[in-house]
Amino acid sequence: MVDETETTAAMYRRFATLEAPGASPLYERLASGVASDRELLALLGGLPPAKRQPNLLFAAARYVTGTPSGYDDFREALFEHREAVVAAMLARRTQTNEPARCAALYPLLASLPQPLALLEVGASAGLCLLPDRYAYTQNGHVFGAVGSPLRLNCQVEGTPPPHLTRPGPITVAWRAGIDLNPLDVTDPDDVRWLRTLVWPEQHERLHRLETAIGLARDDPPPIVRGDLNDRLAEVAAQAPPDATLVVYHTAVLYYVSDEGRAAFADQLARLGCHWIGQETEGILPQVTARLPRPHPDGPLMYVLSLDGRPVAFSAMHGGRLHWV
Ligand SMILES: C[S@@+](CC[C@H](N)C(=O)[O-])C[C@H]1O[C@@H](n2cnc3c(N)ncnc32)[C@H](O)[C@@H]1O
Repeated sequence: MVDETETTAAMYRRFATLEAPGASPLYERLASGVASDRELLALLGGLPPAKRQPNLLFAAARYVTGTPSGYDDFREALFEHREAVVAAMLARRTQTNEPARCAALYPLLASLPQPLALLEVGASAGLCLLPDRYAYTQNGHVFGAVGSPLRLNCQVEGTPPPHLTRPGPITVAWRAGIDLNPLDVTDPDDVRWLRTLVWPEQHERLHRLETAIGLARDDPPPIVRGDLNDRLAEVAAQAPPDATLVVYHTAVLYYVSDEGRAAFADQLARLGCHWIGQETEGILPQVTARLPRPHPDGPLMYVLSLDGRPVAFSAMHGGRLHWV
């Protein structure tokens, strides 16, 4: 029988050695502390398996008690406010919304016939539904909404297909999102949760998030609550017929079963729309099978695909695009 405590400890050890280093020294310390803390592992053991993950625990603890200075401080505050932290873990999800992922989406969107009808599944607060409200800099070339207060810088490597070299403007005629739990950019608690999901030392990401929320707040994109497979056809039917429908998702299908992903791909084929994916390798087998080898260097790169074909690798939180 699998020892659940050991499974959870291994997840935290993995986080401490593979995910946090270079990104968050504090989370690295917290994760390695949890991995050998029997009392805390027992507390996690009382939660459903999907609720035991490091990102959720650390965000919930910071949401309730503020950012700790180190492991002892974290542990003390956590046990002092244990019920509130557990309640936040049960009520909330890790649904980081990263507008910088739009820097990878934009050239593909600009390559399609305009105007566009954008449908994002797994939209969280909808910040990736606003690619036309941000400015972009890629290797010195500025494009998009050039006067926007949010400028997304992205280092580009490799040779893009010729029509993607200098992205032109995009026109959005319609936009909508679907999410199991839409976050509301006008709700202070949802905004505080989104801020807490950004790792403590990532000040640039936090600033980006806050600027994007400011841009979203005046005219938030509509996001329908529900499962992406259940709601897709009905929401897609609302898109204006004279706009190019693009369904896209970034960092979402990881949460969906293999059967769910296959059903989603079948639905998209039936809709006859364009499809952009930005997911970790292996999530979409049809995309993975077409990937070139060897891969470019770099940690945790996403695979960017258009209509089921890989076109680039992209960094997890934006900032780097490597055309295949
Ligand atoms: C990691 S967040 C990514 C959010 C956004 N796409 C981004 O890249 O910034 C994943 C989102 O997918 C949503 N999600 C997960 N499974 C889903 C499903 N089956 N149907 C709809 N949304 C789902 C979650 O609620 C969450 O908001």
